[in-house]
Amino acid sequence: MTIKDASIWASAYIGKNVTPSNISYLIQYGRIPKNGDNGNTFVNRHDLEKYYDSHYETKAERWKKQLGDDLNWSLSFSQYKESETTKHVHRLHSYKGKFIPQLVEYFLDNHTDKFKKTRFFNAGDIILDPFCGSGTTLVQSGELGLHSIGIDISAFNAFMSNVKVGKYNIDDVKKTADLITRNLKEFQKEKNNVDFENKLLEELKKINEIFFPSPGYKYKVRQKEINEQLYGKEKSDEFLKTYYKLIDHYNISLKQEKNDSFLDKWFLQVVRDEIDFVFEQIKSIKNIQTKKILALVLSRTVRSCRATTHADLGTLKEPVIETYYCKKHGKICKPLFSILSWWKRYSKDTIKRVLEFEKLRTNTFQRCLIGDSRTIDIIQEIDKKNPEFASSIKNKKIAGIFSSPPYVGLIDYHEQHAYAYDLFGFERKDELEIGPLCRGQGLEAQKSYVKGISDVLNNCKRFLKPDYDVFLVANDKYGLYPQIAQRSDMKIVNEYKRPVLNRVEKDRSAYAEIIFHMKTL
Ligand SMILES: C[S@@+](CC[C@H](N)C(=O)[O-])C[C@H]1O[C@@H](n2cnc3c(N)ncnc32)[C@H](O)[C@@H]1O
Repeated sequence: MTIKDASIWASAYIGKNVTPSNISYLIQYGRIPKNGDNGNTFVNRHDLEKYYDSHYETKAERWKKQLGDDLNWSLSFSQYKESETTKHVHRLHSYKGKFIPQLVEYFLDNHTDKFKKTRFFNAGDIILDPFCGSGTTLVQSGELGLHSIGIDISAFNAFMSNVKVGKYNIDDVKKTADLITRNLKEFQKEKNNVDFENKLLEELKKINEIFFPSPGYKYKVRQKEINEQLYGKEKSDEFLKTYYKLIDHYNISLKQEKNDSFLDKWFLQVVRDEIDFVFEQIKSIKNIQTKKILALVLSRTVRSCRATTHADLGTLKEPVIETYYCKKHGKICKPLFSILSWWKRYSKDTIKRVLEFEKLRTNTFQRCLIGDSRTIDIIQEIDKKNPEFASSIKNKKIAGIFSSPPYVGLIDYHEQHAYAYDLFGFERKDELEIGPLCRGQGLEAQKSYVKGISDVLNNCKRFLKPDYDVFLVANDKYGLYPQIAQRSDMKIVNEYKRPVLNRVEKDRSAYAEIIFHMKTL
């Protein structure tokens, strides 16, 4: 490794910034051997590893000192690549607040280790997730030979979960998606947006090459030779003349006339026209399963085509209808004028992911119900979909719960998919969400949260086996779970501490999330 590569590697290894001069120091003082000649210095990774193992505490050790020896480092899942934590159908749609599949597997599968001393569930058991979200528990149960039932108050989340565990005639899905793509291309011929966008891209390429050459421009920004904010704004303002000339020339409609709904506000008129066109095509699909999965592809596409800057995709600020200086890419970027490329990309990706899951899934029952987990009658609702499985729940009962409840004042779960509610017309039940962001984190909100979660547990208990196991994953920063257990006539029998490495908050100190294991009193 070069000195620079060694410093990057070492920073990741010990979880602390290691500079190239730190590495040079180690060589100079003979702590690690030097390799290479003719003025090129290289170091061997094993030498570095040996040095840090004997001289340095790893991040795991430091965190354990702060949080206790019972911190289960393997539950950080830092050894997994992103492609593994978003494997197959888990990436069919974005969703803020999902847990990673490997965490679910850890508790549902049959392995044991220093922390998990017994297995809790056996193939054929029924698992319940009363806060099903995007369906992670359902999908993993499906992989592990367990039956599972989810419940979610958000109709769109339940839809997403059910699409993930659905079964499809892939040939039909592929043919239908291709047909819609062809029809969309025909639809575009009647409009000018493709020609317009090509011309705009041509102009942007020219201007970006002149004023934002790569990598020279970014280097100058880093060296503070250029004031990025002023320079970026000046050049993007200058470009607007060209932009609006093209808009006029190609007669492109930008703003929609109405501004009533999310779909009216957050999409350029040209994009909205395409969304409506594709949705009409989807409505006429005969095969109901094909219709559902392509509706989810459309929803994912729509989300990626909101009129916003690249930097604000996660947290929308104001609709963007013109070209702008993009801090993320260090050049002038544009909003989207067509959904075609995302539609094509996501249709292909979805088919690939469904086929991957198809190879792994077992022949078990999975279903997410729409409802309030405080009051829902699970057997009655399942009976409407599958009477045979309903009587199986009655007879053998549910073995346990694996779930991550919402926490106090963190996320508005309906609102994060507002575009999908507008598009599909699902009924919103925002007022029944437990702990929404809009109600804050004050004492009142905490009290109502405690009541909400314990009402869920008390309702669900009716359907559980007497020796049930309940696992709840929670960032319990207000220490509410002991009260919740008490109000639900349950006892916390174990707390699994999981390091949270990628915290959203700025605070980078050692931090653990708890998986509460509860049983009947
Ligand atoms: C933290 S998320 C669950 C995420 C899930 N574990 C996943 O991996 O996708 C919590 C979920 O609880 C749902 N929820 C909130 N209040 C509810 C209620 N009263 N009944 C049922 N579900 C509710 C929200 O809609 C949200 O989808």
